[in-house]
Amino acid sequence: MTTPLPVYPGTRSPRCPFDPPAAYADWRRADGLQRVTLWNGATAWAVSRYADVRAVLADPRISADARRFPELNPGAGQGRPHAFPRMDDPDHARLRRMLTGEFTVKRVAAMRPHIQELADRFLDAMIAQGPPADLVRDFALPIPSLVISLLLGVPYADHEFFQAHSTTMNRADASAEEKGAAGAALFGYLAGLVERKQREPGDDLISRLLADRVATGELAPQDVAMNGMILLFAGHETTANMIGLATLALLENPATATRIRDTDDPAVIANAVEELLRYLSIAQDMILRVAAEDMTIGGQPVEAGDLLTINLPAANRDPELLEAPDTFDIDRVTRGHLAFGHGVHQCLGQSLARAELQLALPALLRRLPTLRLAIPLAEVRLRHDMSAYGVHELPVTW
Ligand code: HEM
Repeated sequence: MTTPLPVYPGTRSPRCPFDPPAAYADWRRADGLQRVTLWNGATAWAVSRYADVRAVLADPRISADARRFPELNPGAGQGRPHAFPRMDDPDHARLRRMLTGEFTVKRVAAMRPHIQELADRFLDAMIAQGPPADLVRDFALPIPSLVISLLLGVPYADHEFFQAHSTTMNRADASAEEKGAAGAALFGYLAGLVERKQREPGDDLISRLLADRVATGELAPQDVAMNGMILLFAGHETTANMIGLATLALLENPATATRIRDTDDPAVIANAVEELLRYLSIAQDMILRVAAEDMTIGGQPVEAGDLLTINLPAANRDPELLEAPDTFDIDRVTRGHLAFGHGVHQCLGQSLARAELQLALPALLRRLPTLRLAIPLAEVRLRHDMSAYGVHELPVTW
């Protein structure tokens, strides 16, 4: 009888929900790579060592092309254009390049006052309603959702529709039919929005793509709708889960929370955010690849067509990256962490995500200095089996 393979992603301990499952450290130390079962029963190699992850993500023989693993992308295509994050260069680079200008450090710096305003507005509403509150519903989720709306030019009046469908698509307990219907509704919505922006352009990403890329024939209007949908998914749930889980981590580490609350040094906050990104590594099941040819990775022979799942939580806790990797220390140098991936697919929205975290977390800690969990830590529902790890809800009081 063969022993069943471990499931990836594994379950983190409820006692310390910030640490990756203990088995990952063994996988990192073992020869070769760990064979695992993914959520849909497919088998893959888990790449867990820091050096192996960097090597794989920089290797042109490793493909991100979704057409090579259709069983892992239910609903992909279906008359919609393919998504550039699931393409290889040069197609991927051609499409990505059209968006990079939207996420430069300078562009994001110009968005900071709006992000601050949103954080303040949601805090005002939460405080007005009085404790307790669900920090995910009232703060962590709406901030990135509205930031994306602002960026894409989604009118505020349509915001509820936009948020309701994207939430359904991200919900673990939604059925495949519900998710499919929400996806189709959202794509339809974005296609309609693109049509509207063709008639009435605004100062937003969709209008700029229409003017700069559709007018020249480089993109079709439905490619613009697809890019809008990608940005919504890539940028929404990830950032929301980082805000939620980071808040929990800070509530469990009150001295660190006090330090972030009391500092007026942006460098301290920026470094704290980097350490939170590394320590929490929420992108636990987001990076899938396939070997395009036979090769050896970390001493492991891998055949063409083999799936690889990139274990960022393990890689970011590798002692090769830094000393005492399991310690949460916002004063350490975190350079080189992989929370946003690595190589050509490295997160396009990382400057924006950083800005959202750097503004939202201190605002929360300053406005609500007595913030605390409203339930025992052991009762907080953790997103073990979701591609972005985090908390489903975070009941808080003050
Ligand atoms: C890619 C993490 C926020 C847009 C990625 C990847 C990771 C990641 C690990 C690499 C995926 C791969 O290699 O297959 C995160 C985390 C975030 C965050 C942890 C928040 C804390 C955002 C935001 C946006 C965004 C705010 C945009 C508004 C994207 C896009 C890609 C990507 C478009 C695909 C890039 C490509 O394939 O070229 N992200 N992300 N992300 N992210 Fe993020």
